[in-house]
Amino acid sequence: MKKLDVTIVGGGMITNDLLLPSLYHLQRTGAVGPIHICALNTPPLRALKENPDFLQAFPGQDFTPYPALAETPDKDFPALYKEVIAAMPPRNIVVVAMPDHLHYEVVRKALEHDQHVLCVKPLVLQYQHSVEIEKFARQKGLFIGIEYHKRFDRRSLVAKRSYALGHFGAFVMGEAKLIEPYYYRFSNFQNWFTPERTDPFTYIGCHYVDLVYFITGLKPVEVSVLGIKGRFPNGNPAFLWSHGRVIFENGALLSVVNGLGYPDAGAGSNDQGLVMYCEGDGKNALIDHDDQYRGVAHCYLEGLGCGGSQYNYVSPDFYRLVPWEGAGFKPVGYGYDSVAAIISTICRIENETTELPAESALVRRRQMIAEVDDKGIIATPSNSFINELVVEAARMSILSDGAPVKIVYGDQPHVEPKS
Ligand SMILES: NC(=O)c1ccc[n+]([C@@H]2O[C@H](COP(=O)([O-])OP(=O)(O)OC[C@H]3O[C@@H](n4cnc5c(N)ncnc54)[C@H](O)[C@@H]3O)[C@@H](O)[C@H]2O)c1
Repeated sequence: MKKLDVTIVGGGMITNDLLLPSLYHLQRTGAVGPIHICALNTPPLRALKENPDFLQAFPGQDFTPYPALAETPDKDFPALYKEVIAAMPPRNIVVVAMPDHLHYEVVRKALEHDQHVLCVKPLVLQYQHSVEIEKFARQKGLFIGIEYHKRFDRRSLVAKRSYALGHFGAFVMGEAKLIEPYYYRFSNFQNWFTPERTDPFTYIGCHYVDLVYFITGLKPVEVSVLGIKGRFPNGNPAFLWSHGRVIFENGALLSVVNGLGYPDAGAGSNDQGLVMYCEGDGKNALIDHDDQYRGVAHCYLEGLGCGGSQYNYVSPDFYRLVPWEGAGFKPVGYGYDSVAAIISTICRIENETTELPAESALVRRRQMIAEVDDKGIIATPSNSFINELVVEAARMSILSDGAPVKIVYGDQPHVEPKS
């Protein structure tokens, strides 16, 4: 089997908490070859190199950092990722893990250099950009997987199947919540999570809007989002809280509450869940997912919880390092499943077509990508474009004090203020 080289662009929290350990595991199980990571500067790269969990879980595994660690920590290299991507052999993998507003240019650069892409959500912030990216990728037979890992949570997959089987009737009224920890305010978020660029709905609310679409297949048609502003410790302004309302094509309503504010002392580590009421014939049904407390609580001797707490709701479902039959520890959970699904899809596409003449390989790659689009499990630009429309509408709404914004489908989907 051909192993694929991986370049991660962005060395921040999501790279540390999910992407790199997942890729290390895929490296030792055979899908992934050498791993390169390009960040803006050296401090996050050094932190990844020295992360004691990785040293313990993935003995002997490593990545190549860009810039090199010998560079001074205060020197930025904003364009270095372009050189790193340009130096890759064609049809390997670029993992995009930068701040939201930079995804578009990195994904474009990856496609220009014939690379398949795994992009953290949201793919891009404008629908037109997603259309352009999708077209470009299709032309070249390159796969783009968007890492909406909540789709891989078993409870989402079970709900999707049951909804399709008609076990719930029609979604009518729901509530989604995802409040990230207070300590996020002290992170690198201070440098990019500013009101003109993003907000809590765009950052994390999009997960649950995508999930309702994933479970029901219903398209959102109207979005309004109100934000509450505050300041990061470095003085930068931000929307620290948001309250959204999404209307779906059948008239169903979803409230979406988001923020960077779950107490560090809480058992969290964040607060999240989804409730969906559904109308049946003469009776009603309900989907109720508590995504915070998953039935496991650990009280440590010391404050080992993410925010320094001792008593913790430990989710074994998203991402954990656990003992396994091989060396070190392995990542488990729907976060890992999601990364693995995207990477193995790319490997399958490459391995099935690598021996074919160029022209038939291109045709076959396009066919295989279309099959993944149709299956609708891995989010792709083609099967999850509603998210770009929702994000675009949400940005327009939150910047105009919660004014409702319509999503218009048809030949040329777009968003427009509701008159
Ligand atoms: N639940 C999720 O799916 C989830 C969770 C967290 C983050 N994310 C997404 O991941 C992305 C990154 O978030 P994060 O939490 O890791 O942010 P972060 O601020 O911790 O890290 C951002 C990284 O991007 C790097 N970067 C910035 N400009 C760069 C450049 N020009 N060249 C190379 N590297 C550059 C920085 O060095 C930093 O390492 C965001 O799009 C976010 O929405 C998704």
